[in-house]
Amino acid sequence: GLPQRVTVYEVGARDGLQNEAALVPTEAKAEFIARLADAGLWMIEATGFVHPKWVPQLADADELMPLLGRHGFNDHTRFPVLVPNRRGLVRAAAAGAKDIAVFASATETFAAKNLNSTMEQSMLEIEATLQQALARGMRARGYVSMCFGDPWEGPVALRAVADVVVRLIAAGCVQVSLGDTIGTATPGHVRTLIDALERRGVARDRLAVHFHDTYGQALANTYAALQAGIATVDSSAGGLGGCPYAESATGNLATEDLVWMLDGLGITTGVDLRKLVETSGWMADILGRPAPSRAVQALTRG
Ligand code: HMG
Ligand code: MG
Repeated sequence: GLPQRVTVYEVGARDGLQNEAALVPTEAKAEFIARLADAGLWMIEATGFVHPKWVPQLADADELMPLLGRHGFNDHTRFPVLVPNRRGLVRAAAAGAKDIAVFASATETFAAKNLNSTMEQSMLEIEATLQQALARGMRARGYVSMCFGDPWEGPVALRAVADVVVRLIAAGCVQVSLGDTIGTATPGHVRTLIDALERRGVARDRLAVHFHDTYGQALANTYAALQAGIATVDSSAGGLGGCPYAESATGNLATEDLVWMLDGLGITTGVDLRKLVETSGWMADILGRPAPSRAVQALTRG
């Protein structure tokens, strides 16, 4: 059956904004995150300590994190940050981050494009990063990109994904998020992958799903994952997003579209949809174009 409660892991401030060419002021990012928290989201990926030349939008990560401390967030709210390597970890720790997210690729081509490395070399760097993060008492999640299809390599073998997932968990990730970076997954494939991972010893409560809506499949894929027992879903307020290093990647599953479905299914998220829609509308004004989310459009019409 379906889970009674789902954790919405909000990625708008990182995956959403990283693709925006126009720099959003650091203060506006801090307010965005505060408003997301006020709307009831409590896992909010705040930024990334990636190389500033690779993702200029996130070059202010070091300044943004201390701003979050000004807000009276409850103890429950967490602000994980994306970290590519040990250099990023040192920056994240200095900025006060307590939770990190590392990211690996299920394909060689994307490891080269996104991490300037091979799969093996990048896994070794991730393992070293995780070791140092755990020694600092941090909590870590892992992402695996290109879990379903890769724009250069085509369909991705279940085994290639499973090898990376198993290795990330062994290295200390409390959760691994299955990334459909370019949005080509379909619900049957989602189920097949989760079942294959279970056969490799990966429990469903260690997994999250991360869908991009490029082909309009994100919500259907999410439903398949819920039916398979997954209870953490990544999404982006307003449906912002995309990956600058993956051709044809568009926005993430929109948090509003997700919450609309979960509300309808009677699944608890703690998210106040009205406040969230207001927040995405506010960010859309800053970015100068409407939020791609269908639910945001429907709920702000008229
Ligand atoms: P590189 O150029 O190969 O780095 O980049 P390097 O290790 O050769 O080092 C070169 C210089 O960069 C050195 O400085 C380092 O100190 C510095 P120098 O000694 O020459 O003065 N450096 C850094 N500076 C600041 N912060 C750092 C850092 N690391 C090295 N962290 C690197 C390798 C991994 C850093 C680069 O490729 C990178 O930052 N990649 C990130 C790309 C990215 O952010 N992509 C989008 C996020 S992933 C995603 O969106 C997918 C996801 O959403 C899931 C899904 O949808 O599938 C998560
Ligand atoms: Mg993504």
